[in-house]
Amino acid sequence: MKDMNIICDLVIFGAKGDLARRKLLPSLYQLEKINKLSKNMRIIGVGRANWDKKNYLAIVRDSLKTFMNEKIEDSVWNVFSLRLDFCNLDVNDTHSFLKLKKMFYQPNNLIINYFAMPPNTFSAICKGLGEVHLNLEPARIVIEKPLGTSLKTSKKINDEISKYFKEHQIFRIDHYLGKETILNLLAFRFSNSLFYYNWNNNFIDHVQITIAEEIGVEGRKEYFNSTGQIRDMVQNHLLQILTIITMSQPISLNSNNIQDEKVKILKALRPFNTYDTCKKIVLGQYSSGIINGNKLPSYLDDIGKNIHSNTETFVSMKVNIDNKQWYGVPFYLRTGKRLPKKCSEIVIFFKDIPINIFNNCHYDLPKNKITIFLQHKEGIKIQILNKVPGLESSYNLDITNLNFNYSQHFKQLKLFDAYERLLLESIRGNRSLFVRRDEVELAWNWIDSILNSINFQKNPLYLYPSGTWGPNSSHEMIKKDGYKWNKC
Ligand code: BG6
Repeated sequence: MKDMNIICDLVIFGAKGDLARRKLLPSLYQLEKINKLSKNMRIIGVGRANWDKKNYLAIVRDSLKTFMNEKIEDSVWNVFSLRLDFCNLDVNDTHSFLKLKKMFYQPNNLIINYFAMPPNTFSAICKGLGEVHLNLEPARIVIEKPLGTSLKTSKKINDEISKYFKEHQIFRIDHYLGKETILNLLAFRFSNSLFYYNWNNNFIDHVQITIAEEIGVEGRKEYFNSTGQIRDMVQNHLLQILTIITMSQPISLNSNNIQDEKVKILKALRPFNTYDTCKKIVLGQYSSGIINGNKLPSYLDDIGKNIHSNTETFVSMKVNIDNKQWYGVPFYLRTGKRLPKKCSEIVIFFKDIPINIFNNCHYDLPKNKITIFLQHKEGIKIQILNKVPGLESSYNLDITNLNFNYSQHFKQLKLFDAYERLLLESIRGNRSLFVRRDEVELAWNWIDSILNSINFQKNPLYLYPSGTWGPNSSHEMIKKDGYKWNKC
């Protein structure tokens, strides 16, 4: 069915929140622009503000102006604004949900409820929707992280939601799953025989995954200070990337088949025990420093003077997957704030050739490596050795690169924002780009093992100057294994 023929309405709980203004509304506008929204679809913002439709329209227009990198086109806005409406509702007041129900012309049509609010409100929203039967199929909910802070709290959230919605009605967002380059991992791995057959511990030596950000905690001090980089980035984005890059081929692209394979990897992650975290995990917190010529304050200054905090803004770790395909291959993960630049990449290093016939001129042959640039300069680079042309009798080898760059190759095609895709896929009902309950809980189970052993071992928290690649210990950790971090 064509996207514009899918009859549905969208409700955004948290209509004036940061997520709605910064991401959801601009993404919906973009979908409007390319005719992906059905003719009669309505977008209803829900919030406690005492607004009418006119106020809401002004807020939406202001959000588009502030957060889109382009001018609002009148022809698009005229259609888009007709869809918008606002419902003044306190999610804790169950009875007020009747107001919301009355706003739908056809309450039995597909309604997508986007919870752009903190998880402690999810239970009340579900209850309110349930009270007026807006939870009944085909209704869907789209929910955002953080889905808990541990396995226990995550289960609690999932249990509350599942009182009102069945699993197939729930779309859990990890916005990394909406990125074009992450989707391409499936194509890269499972449509190219060149990589398909050697994707295992017979050929791959080790893997590095980095998500680096230049920004600090920005306007999310409270949230971040009680969350930290492990819960904020590893539990979700990094683990999703790790599972997609290591899972076996699913029997189809059907969501359950993909998620089943990811779950097998999550189950095979070696838990951390109380003795090995100091050797395998490095925690850091940024101090003041310079990025792009700008002098930036420390984390403690960012969150407010006189606050002492042990929250990590950087983590690097060595991870093992105990299954037949990956046993013995170390995976090094790192992510941090206030690093020298924003970049996310996966680097696959291949094993050395057992006998080096070029040892007269090259004692060590550098490893072949594939770098998958997930964001910023999106592309794939394959590093191989070639002979330098010349008449010398000995071989002179040089490192050369086979390069694929999205923007150069697909010149006419836009890379859509993750939220544009995920909103559209939630309308289409494609759950493969969302996270299933067992995935979230297995991820938390593993993260619990890390956090427990960090607490037990009292891992040191090293300071690193803003604008550097984390504490020295992070380089030491990988160096002990004979490697070094790839230069992003
Ligand atoms: C979010 C985290 O999930 O992802 C943020 O909460 C982080 O702390 C962000 O900055 C990074 O996303 P992206 O798409 O900019 O890499």
